[in-house]
Amino acid sequence: MNRHVFRLSQLRMIVAMTRSGVISVHNKIPWQHSGDLTRFKALTWGCPVIMGRKTWDSLGHKPLLNRANIILSRREKLETTAGTIAPRSHMQTSVSMFYDIERALGFCGARHNGTIWIIGGAEIYAAYMHLVSAIDVTYVPDNINSDTPGAVLFPPIPEAFKEGFEQAHPLNPKLTLAEYRWNRPV
Ligand SMILES: NC(=O)c1ccc[n+]([C@@H]2O[C@H](COP(=O)([O-])OP(=O)(O)OC[C@H]3O[C@@H](n4cnc5c(N)ncnc54)[C@H](OP(=O)(O)O)[C@@H]3O)[C@@H](O)[C@H]2O)c1
Repeated sequence: MNRHVFRLSQLRMIVAMTRSGVISVHNKIPWQHSGDLTRFKALTWGCPVIMGRKTWDSLGHKPLLNRANIILSRREKLETTAGTIAPRSHMQTSVSMFYDIERALGFCGARHNGTIWIIGGAEIYAAYMHLVSAIDVTYVPDNINSDTPGAVLFPPIPEAFKEGFEQAHPLNPKLTLAEYRWNRPV
């Protein structure tokens, strides 16, 4: 891996999940809780966001504004509606596709000094789990069993990650924020 163009401390994951680890059911997120998208937008604004092709599909192929949208896929082509956001020229929105996780990181690191966000889904979380320095979790109160048909689960968090804090979401007290950190030796 090219370690010259990014630092592992730049890499963070962000996810909303149930306590049973469910992140979606039948390719849709089965909840809507006010405040969490607002927080997601504020944290990721202006930063590269790396996602899997299925998550890109679930966004309707519409890039997240003012963020470099990095899609991982082994396909030859990617569907996108990126052209429709071009007039908002003050926004630095872009869509790029990569075949492997390291090239995606190299691309982000060469253009951005700040946080690079891994935004899902489960396959992409699993692929980057050994590289990120922190996992930012929103626990939603919804009761969805992990064996629900069509449920997609967040991968197990390795023991190397320690829970830094757990606190009520500042924008919605029904939600709980948690952070898991992996403090690697420098
Ligand atoms: N609750 C949350 O916070 C949250 C956040 C994000 C997503 N989600 C949900 O998660 C679900 C999708 O998760 P998912 O695990 O099924 O799919 P995903 O991780 O979004 O995408 C999987 C796809 O990514 C590509 N891919 C995976 N590993 C790769 C690698 N190492 N190199 C290159 N490409 C790679 C492949 O695309 P190709 O098949 O094109 O080759 C694969 O099919 C959606 O329903 C979405 O709503 C939830």
